[in-house]
Amino acid sequence: MKLLGISSISERNMREMIQAFPELLRTVKIDDRIIERAERESEKGLKGVCFLGMGGSSIAGEYVRSLLSETSPVPLISVRDYSIPRHVDKDWVVIAVSYSGNTEETLSAYREARKRSCTIFSVTTGGELKRVSDTSYVQLIPSGLQPRAALPMLLSVTLNLTQSFLGLDHTDFNEVSRQVALSKKEWVGNLMSPETLASKLNDSVPVFFAHGHLAPVAYRAKCQINENAKYTALSWEIPEANHNEIEASASYKRFSFLPIFLESHFENKRMDQRFSATRAILSSANGLVLKIGSRDRLEEMLSLTLYLDTVSLELADLNGVDSLSVDKISELKARLGG
Ligand code: PA5
Repeated sequence: MKLLGISSISERNMREMIQAFPELLRTVKIDDRIIERAERESEKGLKGVCFLGMGGSSIAGEYVRSLLSETSPVPLISVRDYSIPRHVDKDWVVIAVSYSGNTEETLSAYREARKRSCTIFSVTTGGELKRVSDTSYVQLIPSGLQPRAALPMLLSVTLNLTQSFLGLDHTDFNEVSRQVALSKKEWVGNLMSPETLASKLNDSVPVFFAHGHLAPVAYRAKCQINENAKYTALSWEIPEANHNEIEASASYKRFSFLPIFLESHFENKRMDQRFSATRAILSSANGLVLKIGSRDRLEEMLSLTLYLDTVSLELADLNGVDSLSVDKISELKARLGG
C-alpha cells in the first residue's frame, strides 16, 4: 500500500486533516489482488452491491451510489443499520466500511452478510472488522484520522472497487485530487469564504437543499456541522422537499432557518427551474446558493464537500468547540456497553 501525506497530519488537528482532503484522495493505492478479486465478481455476474457503514464511514457508499446508480445495471444499496435486507443473498457483493473497524451496527450487518454467503470486501484501518474479514478481501487504509476526515480515502477505494464489480473504468484519483485542490481558487471567485459562510450561519439553523449527486453532499454537510461544530443542521432532497418541507417555509424565520441550495452545473433545465421556484418561495428566509465550477459530477461533489467541511471547522472555531472530540457518540457507545 502506497501512502502519501498522512504521516504529516497530526492526530490532534482537524484543520490539517481537512486541508489534506485533496491529497488523501490519492493516498491509497488499492492492492492489485483485491482489484483482481473484484473483477472476478464482475465476470461471474452479480445481483447487486450493498454498502455497509455508519456515520463518517457511510458517506463513501452514499457518494458512490449517487454517482453510479443511473448507469449501474444492478441495484446499489446502502445499509446504515444492524441488518441487511432479505433479498441480499450469495450473489450480492457487500462492501463493509468502518474506519475504526469496531462499529457495532456495521459488524452485525457484516455477520449477517457472511451467513448469507455474500462476497464481502472490507475497507478499514483494523479493529474487529479486520479480524473477522477474509484477509485477501480487506483493503487496509492508514489510521490516525477521525473517521469523517478519512472520506477521501474511503471514497477512492469504494468507488474503484465498485467500478471493478460493474466492469467500468477506474476513476483516476490522481487527477481528481489535482482538480479538487485547484477548486480552492474558486472559493475566492464564486463562493464566499468558508469563514464568512460560517459566521452567516452562526445563530441560525442551516438547511441544505440538493438534488441527485449533490444530495449526499448536503447530508455530509449536515453531519460535518453536527460532529465538528456540535451544531444542528438539516438536509433535504429536491424534488421530494417540494412536496412537504416547502409548506413549512413560513416558519423558517421563526426558527432562524437559513436555506442553503447546493446547485449543480450538471442539472437539466427542469431541475434548474425547480430550484429557482423553490428559492422564490423561500425568499423571505434569505437563502444562499452554492455552485462551484467543475469538470464533472464527482469533482463537483468533492469540491463542494471540501468547502463545506471547511465551513464546519470555521463554525467550530467561532463557537470555541473542539472539532475532534465526539463525546456524545462515545457516551452513547459507553451507555450501550460498546
Ligand atoms: O465521523 C465519525 O467519527 C463517526 O461518524 C464515525 O464514522 C461513526 O461513529 C462510525 O465509526 P467508524 O467510522 O469507525 O465505523
